[in-house]
Amino acid sequence: MNTEVDKGVAEPDVTADGGRIPANLDAGAGSASPAGINEGTQSRPLPEDALIILPVRNLVMFPGVILPITINRAKSRAAAQEAARLQRPVGVLLQTKPEIDEPRPEDLHWVGTVANVLRYVTGADGAHHLVAQGEERFRILEFLEGYDYPVARVQRIPDVEAVDTEIEARALTLKQRAIEILRLLPQVPEEMIMGVQNVEAPAQLADLVGGLMDASTDEKQAILETFDLRTRLDKLLEHLGKRVEVLKLSREIDERTKESIGEHNREHLLRERMKAIQKELGNDDEGAAELEELKKAIAEAGMTEEVEKHARKELKRLERMPEAAGEYSMVRTYLEWLTELPWKNAAADTIDIAEARRILDADHYGLEKIKKRILEYLAVRKLNPTGKSPIVCFVGPPGVGKTSLGQSIARAMGREFVRVSLGGVHDEAEIRGHRRTYIGALPGNIIQGIRKAGTKHCLMMLDEVDKLGNGSFHGDPSSALLEVLDPEQNSTFRDNYLGIPYDLSTVMFICTANVLDTIPGPLRDRMEVIQLAGYTQQEKQEIAKRYLLNRQLSANGLTAQQCEITDDAVQSIIGDYTREAGVRNLEREIGAVLRHVAVRIAEGTITQAKIDQPDLHAILGPLKFESDVAMRTSMPGVATGLAWTPVGGDILFIEASRMPGAGKLILTGQLGEVMKESAQAALSLVKSRAAKLGIDPSLLEKSDIHVHVPAGATPKDGPSAGVSMFLALTSLLTQRPVRSDTAMTGEISLRGLVLPIGGVKEKVLAAMRAGITRVMLPARNRRDFEDIPADAREKLEFVWLETVDDAVNASLDAPLVEAAA
Ligand SMILES: Nc1ncnc2c1ncn2[C@@H]1O[C@H](COP(=O)(O)OP(=O)(O)OP(=O)(O)O)[C@@H](O)[C@H]1O
Ligand SMILES: [Mg+2]
Repeated sequence: MNTEVDKGVAEPDVTADGGRIPANLDAGAGSASPAGINEGTQSRPLPEDALIILPVRNLVMFPGVILPITINRAKSRAAAQEAARLQRPVGVLLQTKPEIDEPRPEDLHWVGTVANVLRYVTGADGAHHLVAQGEERFRILEFLEGYDYPVARVQRIPDVEAVDTEIEARALTLKQRAIEILRLLPQVPEEMIMGVQNVEAPAQLADLVGGLMDASTDEKQAILETFDLRTRLDKLLEHLGKRVEVLKLSREIDERTKESIGEHNREHLLRERMKAIQKELGNDDEGAAELEELKKAIAEAGMTEEVEKHARKELKRLERMPEAAGEYSMVRTYLEWLTELPWKNAAADTIDIAEARRILDADHYGLEKIKKRILEYLAVRKLNPTGKSPIVCFVGPPGVGKTSLGQSIARAMGREFVRVSLGGVHDEAEIRGHRRTYIGALPGNIIQGIRKAGTKHCLMMLDEVDKLGNGSFHGDPSSALLEVLDPEQNSTFRDNYLGIPYDLSTVMFICTANVLDTIPGPLRDRMEVIQLAGYTQQEKQEIAKRYLLNRQLSANGLTAQQCEITDDAVQSIIGDYTREAGVRNLEREIGAVLRHVAVRIAEGTITQAKIDQPDLHAILGPLKFESDVAMRTSMPGVATGLAWTPVGGDILFIEASRMPGAGKLILTGQLGEVMKESAQAALSLVKSRAAKLGIDPSLLEKSDIHVHVPAGATPKDGPSAGVSMFLALTSLLTQRPVRSDTAMTGEISLRGLVLPIGGVKEKVLAAMRAGITRVMLPARNRRDFEDIPADAREKLEFVWLETVDDAVNASLDAPLVEAAA
């Protein structure tokens, strides 16, 4: 057996077979294509039954085996690249003498393996490598002339399918012997042994062993050329038989040398052996106690019959193992997992709707619509506990209360709460666990979450399902998640580590996400989405006063008498120190204020404090956010747009400027494709209406226009900035500034219509946060008006746009003058 081969597969620059001499190869011009004739000519097309031949110096490729091949000779590169380009296989042929640089047909063995090119790699050092997988034996019929590399007509030699008992018996012995050898060798990866173990078909097994075995290329070629399967198996058995003897002998010698290592080591060895003997006799207290404990734990875990049987079997295995064996701790950890998982079936939910209402109200301000939906959901569950209820998914910006709503629901249902974060999970194994054969394998995070909860009667919150990776060659995590969430399947959820089904059907799942669009489609279909949009200044003020302040007071060991924060101060924290849709930073800043007071009280300098707005500067530093709206838009060419982002709405400045040029449009600020197109459309629209807008058409021809959207670090996309782009351009070209108190959003069509957009509530809230008093929205978004919180509806002035002309009329400082054409 030759372990180098396997290494070679992993690192293409280690060559196959012995692994030391590079497997140089070259397409010898050969007698069939005399040098000179084909120099520099284009190759003619390859007939269907012809193969591009790749002569190799010192490796034998077997069907089914993946091998890296180093290619040094220029002609071979041509052959390999042509094969890769045409997506044709190559015929790998061993040279009769490795030292020949330009092999002719008579210098090659005429039997080889058809191989598919998996990859063609050019290394950093300029070396070329091919990774190929053997497919089938072939025999040369004749070499063809007229190609830049050897080409031959060939006959493929498939292995016969029929297998008789004689062949089967031989294959079985071969497998055993091969595994025996692999186990005798140091550092053979378990996967390799598994690989051999798992091959069923005798022909395939013979080729795998032929490829792996430690033998000369000539011996391997002889095996390859043995077409009769039974004879081939016999040859392999003979070869492996010899190897086993050699390896056993060398191991014995090894042992003997070890025994003479000296007294000190000898003593150590003897002690170890004594321990082992004691354990055999059952005198090993510690180990025995541990096993006893595991036994008890298995009996008490409340496992199903099937699982308990499985656990007992593993325990038996453990009992027979020496404690020092690496596997011992693996099996022990596994049994610990099994026994610590909750197996007993969960108690039924006891849902009291009135109590649930009370708990939701006690923990959360406002959110009326959302609370109502949650109560409806709970009511349905109460009436039909076994029915299939959809998975609730809270979608909204950070800090709006998704997680804490989940906690309240758990409380209302009397369930334990656990959080499992799915953000950045790319690998199916993170959800489903690694197989136990992996070093350091663990169950996936669903099973880990269950253990953390300690009961199946829990509410598991799957956070950030929108940040779930898209699946790689390690499997698709979202399909594993589907299985977790699907009530049809999750009663027999299979975690790779556990290896036995686990019933998740009594677990209640709730998902959270910041955005809806990146949740994989099939997952989204299964969810009942509940959107949380973010809070107004007013709502935040209430949340701070009623919830956050009290929470932070007790977190910092203060009483309400010791520290008071005035309404003005809270307002200033909301407006000047935070800019967010949720209340997380608000809570943090309040915490900072309270800590400041707590230190003074602890020092004894004060006994109580009242924090007003002017005090904030000393505690929290200078204002973190200032309204730059007015300043920015007082000049022509700037418009204030409204954007929707995963963290809530935001305002967005569109800046346009003009320079002498030839009518080019330059776009900067990390704009996405859709936004770029919308800028193009805006410019076209301006051009087509130039006369109406009073713009000199020649001005457009002689200028380049640059549109920039600052805050370039954040990528921006979407069509909803159309109106603001149009206004920025119009303002620039007419030199009339856009009103600085006004922000707008809306998609445009080339006919000048303003089309509806999404995220109205978030955008309006963002405008209000930024100090805007006037918002222009597409008229067709009127239906979203009632979603806008009441105080925003009161405080802001709304302008509804049917066409871009409405926008021009309502926001450019001087009224539109119809130009006389
Ligand atoms: N309506 C509300 N009433 C009272 N407290 C609230 C409200 N909304 C949010 N909070 C509080 O704000 C804090 C942040 O909320 P939470 O952690 O639930 O946010 P989240 O939506 O899960 O955010 P993320 O997307 O970042 O996970 C919590 O302490 C929560 O209790
Ligand atoms: Mg959260």
